[in-house]
Amino acid sequence: MFRLATLDDLSAMAALHRDVGHEGGFMATLGVRFLRAYYRNLVLGPCGVVLCAKSEEGQLLGFVAGSLDAAAQEDQVRSARVRLAIAALPDVVRNPRAFTGALQRYRSLKRNAEVAKYYLGKGARAEYWAWNPTSDSSGSLILFRRWIKLMRLLGAEAIHFEVDEGNLRVVKIHHAFGAKTTAVMTTPSGQRRFLLEYPFPETVTHRGR
Ligand SMILES: CC(C)(COP(=O)(O)OP(=O)(O)OC[C@H]1O[C@@H](n2cnc3c(N)ncnc32)[C@H](O)[C@@H]1OP(=O)(O)O)[C@@H](O)C(=O)NCCC(=O)NCCS
Repeated sequence: MFRLATLDDLSAMAALHRDVGHEGGFMATLGVRFLRAYYRNLVLGPCGVVLCAKSEEGQLLGFVAGSLDAAAQEDQVRSARVRLAIAALPDVVRNPRAFTGALQRYRSLKRNAEVAKYYLGKGARAEYWAWNPTSDSSGSLILFRRWIKLMRLLGAEAIHFEVDEGNLRVVKIHHAFGAKTTAVMTTPSGQRRFLLEYPFPETVTHRGR
């Protein structure tokens, strides 16, 4: 079953993100309290679109989280920064390197910052796609396609997102779905990252169901 995420899904979303967060993705290193607070913001915010896949027993199989307005989402993160920082504190104390990644990402949110932006902070944006590796993986693609459809239905045009170089398998899936790589950049921590875009609806080629 696919449905929009509610507050009841936050703990399972945070745990799944922590469990599948790949190397180089700093958010997973900030721990489940932070992830819960982060997704709470997105689920409750005016622009967040978070779609879940649940099993018949009610277990979370996967989710796609994103925003119709990345700039408004940035503003929300900035205004929630104290709550987010407090939520991350226990894990940052245990793993101080997580702090550096978080600080770099936070600095990149600052408007007119001299720090180079390493993601596109405007328009519709996909934030995270996660799928429980013990579940039937054909559902992961169906979930993502439905999220894209939902975003279009809600008025999104081009949808932007980033995938780290270490996650080339995911880049290939997006290319197969019609996404284009618009740039390749290197983050301040030396991580190479692909900027991808699902173009305007009329030019998208959908594969899968
Ligand atoms: C990214 C993620 C959601 C993808 O889900 P997944 O179920 O692992 O995806 P898979 O690579 O197994 O591919 C799913 C299906 O698509 C198929 N597929 C894979 N690459 C494909 C391609 N390029 N073209 C067409 N089909 C493809 C696979 O064969 C598989 O089908 P099958 O189950 O019938 O064999 C999941 O791996 C995950 O949670 N990763 C960690 C978080 C992450 O990296 N998120 C993305 C960055 S935001």
